[in-house]
Amino acid sequence: MGSQEKTVLVTGGAGFIGTHTVVQLLNDGFRVSIIDNFDNSVPEAVDRVRELVGPELSERLEFHLADLRNKQDLEDLFSQTSFDAVIHFAGLKAVGESVANPRRYFDNNLIGTINLYEVMAKYNCKKMVFSSSATVYGQPEKIPCVEDFQLMAMNPYGRTKLFLEEIARDIQKAEPEWRIILLRYFNPVGAHESGRLGEDPKGIPNNLIPYIQQVAVGRLPELNVYGHDYPTRDGTAIRDYIHVMDLADGHIAALKKLFATEDIGCTAYNLGTGCGTSVLEMVAAFEKASGKEIPIKLCPRRPGDATEVYASTEKAEKELGWKAKYGVEEMCRDQWNWGSNNPWGYLSEP
Ligand code: UD1
Repeated sequence: MGSQEKTVLVTGGAGFIGTHTVVQLLNDGFRVSIIDNFDNSVPEAVDRVRELVGPELSERLEFHLADLRNKQDLEDLFSQTSFDAVIHFAGLKAVGESVANPRRYFDNNLIGTINLYEVMAKYNCKKMVFSSSATVYGQPEKIPCVEDFQLMAMNPYGRTKLFLEEIARDIQKAEPEWRIILLRYFNPVGAHESGRLGEDPKGIPNNLIPYIQQVAVGRLPELNVYGHDYPTRDGTAIRDYIHVMDLADGHIAALKKLFATEDIGCTAYNLGTGCGTSVLEMVAAFEKASGKEIPIKLCPRRPGDATEVYASTEKAEKELGWKAKYGVEEMCRDQWNWGSNNPWGYLSEP
């Protein structure tokens, strides 16, 4: 059976990584149903997905306003449509907020996902691609991070990802017919090359690139650089930034792997580039791409931050046949194309 006959449920499909993945799924021939509660996304993002893929492919996309915490919403959906697989993005991801309000994280991320597994099992849909995160490596003792490293959580958000990985492994062990792929994202950045889709965080961004972008468009005065005394080449922390279109393609590769591999079990893959970039290198790359100067202020380290994190990409390359295509230059180019054309994100005005 080719992609044409396959229907995929995408939870959180209106979000940053979700929208980019849905575009690629539709372009690849899949039918897609999105479920999203717009907690951290907007209907305009789904309209733009439709606009990008065109009217014909748009007919293969359904949207459902629903919340995973409400099991009845899921029952309604699964009783109407037979899904071949689920890509599960929906979840909260702000580390600071998770420390302040852990119950909100447990409720959304844990309860939501447990409900999803229950309903999937009931309707015999047992193929899942789950959004995990490099956060499960905690403060890695060695780099690059390899999938079989010991896992660790540093905060409630990270704990939800870690628990959900463990839950996936337990379910698959008890019911071997499940096929589950856990994708550990490193630092997703960039945007669709059209400049029509991108990340649109509510409030002041927590993550580096959205913050830099808002400085570049004049929404914020300067970037706080958290830590300049790390034992790295320029004293700032190093991360593995990955273009969101590469991530999207990683999901298609994972999905195809699930369909093709009866004995995949529950398997984790890193989605990263394998290259580390420091905060100051990222600032310089963004300045070059945008032609804007990004004023910086050197600040103390942010609690809980690791010095250097980047992925081993071997397993995904070998088993998924997937490898990131884009480098930091393209990430900043596409980020700026999105940011300069949509300085207030999906809203036209503040
Ligand atoms: C963060 C989360 C991680 C989560 C990921 C989601 C923490 C400790 N980790 O990763 O669990 O999965 O986001 O996308 O929050 N930086 C600045 N100034 C800023 C913002 C960031 O200097 O205004 C620095 C940080 O100190 C860090 C680097 O930029 O060294 C990247 O930060 P960020 O984009 O927040 O990503 P992570 O911390 O890697």
